[in-house]
Amino acid sequence: MTVRRTKIVATLGPASNSPEVLEQLILAGIDVARLNFSHGTPEEHKARARLVRELAAKHGRFVALLGDLQGPKIRIAKFIDKRIELHEGERFRFSVTHPRDAGTREVVGIDYPDLVKDCGVGDELLLDDGRVVMRVEATTADELHCVVLIGGPLSDNKGINRRGGGLTAPALTAKDKADIKLAAEMDLDYLAVSFPRDAADMDLARRLRDESGGSAWLVAKIERAEAVADDEALDGLIRASDAVMVARGDLGVEIGDAELVGIQKKIILHARRYNKVVITATQMMESMISSPMPTRAEVSDVANAVLDYTDAVMLSAESAAGAYPVEAVKAMARVCLGAERQPTSQKSSHRLGHTFSRCDESIALAAMFTANHFPGVKAIIALTESGFTPLIMSRIRSAVPIYAFCPSRETQARVAMFRGVYTVPFDPAEARSESVSQAAVDELLKRGLVETGDWVILTKGDSYHTIGGTNSMKLLHVGEALV
Ligand code: G6P
Repeated sequence: MTVRRTKIVATLGPASNSPEVLEQLILAGIDVARLNFSHGTPEEHKARARLVRELAAKHGRFVALLGDLQGPKIRIAKFIDKRIELHEGERFRFSVTHPRDAGTREVVGIDYPDLVKDCGVGDELLLDDGRVVMRVEATTADELHCVVLIGGPLSDNKGINRRGGGLTAPALTAKDKADIKLAAEMDLDYLAVSFPRDAADMDLARRLRDESGGSAWLVAKIERAEAVADDEALDGLIRASDAVMVARGDLGVEIGDAELVGIQKKIILHARRYNKVVITATQMMESMISSPMPTRAEVSDVANAVLDYTDAVMLSAESAAGAYPVEAVKAMARVCLGAERQPTSQKSSHRLGHTFSRCDESIALAAMFTANHFPGVKAIIALTESGFTPLIMSRIRSAVPIYAFCPSRETQARVAMFRGVYTVPFDPAEARSESVSQAAVDELLKRGLVETGDWVILTKGDSYHTIGGTNSMKLLHVGEALV
């Protein structure tokens, strides 16, 4: 049986909170559960996390937990009647002094005092992910006066973006800082930072994570126009992160949908080049919120990301609030497998023309070169402490599975996000057999993942448990006595 390489991130919410649905999601193949810190209390998140870990353990699966910080999404305040209807050509004002719960058809309050400073005449503002569009006609000390370009309903607390980006809210709010502590308490495996502007925002998040004793890998959500303005900005942000997310909702609003596909491809390419994990997100199976089957366009969207070699594809409302969460995971899994059968998903040009900077990186890439060119190779065993060696391996396109043999709970969960990498709990120091190689291959034999006559690649270092210590690669012939 071919095992899916592309990983699935599913957001948990009201539609997937019950133990029954969660268990079905895990059986359907989710690899990462996303907890959205924009909704819910710390107790609710803790209960969900506990349940995911319990159910995954029950089924012998490894499911990483990703916390997603709310971030400084700029929102309008509330309306007296909860919702208004705007028409093209009408005048409307945003006010930093207007009462927060008393919006009308003419004016609404806004919690972002710098809005007036950040915006000028002629700017376009996009409300509710671009469903309503306005142009700034005039500014006063505390108000923006606009004209409606595209009308529609507008309700309490909808988000606001500026076309082209450039609203200056700092990435980490007081709530985010508290949630970084919560993430550490919960031992989360990944933590996503919303709306980072640059590397400095990620550095701050990393410092706060360290101070709170957390070990979550940090995911930069790429969703501001500034973050993709040029290669320098994008690469700076990628290098300061452990993983990135192509957060297409706000990004699409800020840069326009026409630019989105090209930028998505670039983010995936650059993330992989810098040895980072990449998640493609937003509306991938959107119609499955209310339909048991995806549209052809959605199938094509998921497949496109898989062909570009994203590590993971993500479900948001589909699994959090939709009517068909389990069907959405199954559909995504099926589409991933189909796209992975395409030759472009399996062939690699192996960073030809590049130099490598580290010994372990060189060994990992040599292993992939061998795996992809010696047809007898059926599996790769990477003995790993932090997950770094299999991470490097999985930056290379291949059809050969990479088994991360690792002793710690953190690494066992973390590698669940890496494309083509599967967890095998294993401590080389405790290998009872006469050799670690034999014990490792026996583990694959026991699981039915290889058979006599297959070749297996194994990488390791000179000592057990040394991060960055990988310095050798062995080619092992299954069935022969191994030393
Ligand atoms: C295991 C092996 C070591 C190797 C290490 C690499 O612990 O026993 O020999 O040095 O993995 O870990 P890394 O985190 O760099 O992939």
